[in-house]
Amino acid sequence: MSAEPTYLPLLRRIATAECNAEVYLSAWAQATSRDDVRGVIATVALREGEHTKAFQKRICELGFDVAITEAPETAGKAAIGAATDLTDREKFEKLGLGGRQDPSVPDRWAGYFDDTTIDIATGELLGRFISEERDSVRMLADCYEALEAEEQATPAPAGNVAGGDRLDRIEQMLERLLVRLDGASPANPVVTEAEFRAGLRRDGYDDEIRITNYEPCTAAGQMHTHDFSARLLVLGGEFILDYESGPQTFTAGQCCEVPTGTRHAEASGTPGARVLAGLKHH
Ligand SMILES: [Fe+2]
Ligand SMILES: [Fe+2]
Repeated sequence: MSAEPTYLPLLRRIATAECNAEVYLSAWAQATSRDDVRGVIATVALREGEHTKAFQKRICELGFDVAITEAPETAGKAAIGAATDLTDREKFEKLGLGGRQDPSVPDRWAGYFDDTTIDIATGELLGRFISEERDSVRMLADCYEALEAEEQATPAPAGNVAGGDRLDRIEQMLERLLVRLDGASPANPVVTEAEFRAGLRRDGYDDEIRITNYEPCTAAGQMHTHDFSARLLVLGGEFILDYESGPQTFTAGQCCEVPTGTRHAEASGTPGARVLAGLKHH
């Protein structure tokens, strides 16, 4: 077998991540009652599945193999996709999808061609992949924004469920604003998502960004370790990291680190938590 190309781990990560996304997006495409939403979600799901196959094929052509493993959170995300008691708009939010790329910061694919040893066939595949992923982000954002606009244009039904929901969102925004006005402790400054993402790129974190939504009062599970380092930004709510030295609580705009091999467990406070994580594989 020839020497491993430096970009092989990237190809393997893409093959795995795309497969996991295909699983929960397919579940969602099957569950939705709306043709317009199904059109978008099914297209993105098919792209994800095809990316897995295309990258697996390329890895094989290069003389290596890849074991596709299901990520621990995929089953939970598939359950969200298949849920019948969530609206499509809520599914976007729970799955961390529908956001638009901030044009002032490099996106998660911007550094792929920093590796100047990439061969022609892999470069061609990566170029198509990146363009499709960026297009998928735009398609998902268009779809999410259309659903949001539709909801806002619809008068709140009796019981004021939609109004209550909007109030929740206003409360979350206020909570975030208050954190900013109060100023966090110097040891834990508040950063914007754009600053956080720029920091990930600067510090060599890889392309894989995860957004996890924790239900209110999620109890800490078993202490565990990861074979990657994670840097987390709390987007909303109250996120609790249980370290062996004790728990630490983080609120909107605060960051925390979980270096490789650190024993920890994740939990959330009464409002739940929405957390964005950047990963660095070693
Ligand atoms: Fe993807
Ligand atoms: Fe963990």
